[in-house]
Amino acid sequence: MEDKIRILIPEEEVNKKISEVAAQISEDYAGRSVHLICVLKGGVFFTCELAKRLTVPVSLDFMSVSSYGGGTESSGVVRIVKDLDEPLLDKDVLIVEDIIDSGRTLAYLIDILRTRGPKSIRLCTLLDKPERRVKKQVKVDYTCFSIPDEFVVGYGLDYDQKYRNLPYIGVVEF
Ligand code: IMP
Ligand code: MG
Repeated sequence: MEDKIRILIPEEEVNKKISEVAAQISEDYAGRSVHLICVLKGGVFFTCELAKRLTVPVSLDFMSVSSYGGGTESSGVVRIVKDLDEPLLDKDVLIVEDIIDSGRTLAYLIDILRTRGPKSIRLCTLLDKPERRVKKQVKVDYTCFSIPDEFVVGYGLDYDQKYRNLPYIGVVEF
């Protein structure tokens, strides 16, 4: 059955905002390289769009962690599905996420990555649902959009693995 999806943030608005955030990151990292860690699978569209717009030297790596089952609620259980290929020692790391909800995934990820000796770790997210935060210690350095507590899809975000390819952010009308 087809789900009904209402557009929350249109494509042009998402792209415009990503350009602004990319400009800020390029300014903040001037004279340095940035090592982007794309959190799969949801972060992949945002990572590509962001990386294309950065003017500082960029390297990329990918990690997959799982905190959700097939539904829409966090299980609180996080595991590494795919680890990074490259070491982080002395790198300026920027984690790129699709959305921060409870913050459990990121709290876990940041704890692990810190033990690998990066020079710095910052966090960049396309979407943030601040009302939903359980892990208050998770500090987000770059946010494109703060959104209300609604289940969203598109631009990498899925509902049961569907709708990641939508070029806008939409709300599934359950
Ligand atoms: P957290 O650990 O609760 O912060 O959850 C983070 C992960 O949950 C995200 O990386 C997404 O994969 C997923 N998630 C949270 N909210 C949504 C949503 O509204 N739509 C799709 N996925 C979501
Ligand atoms: Mg994610």
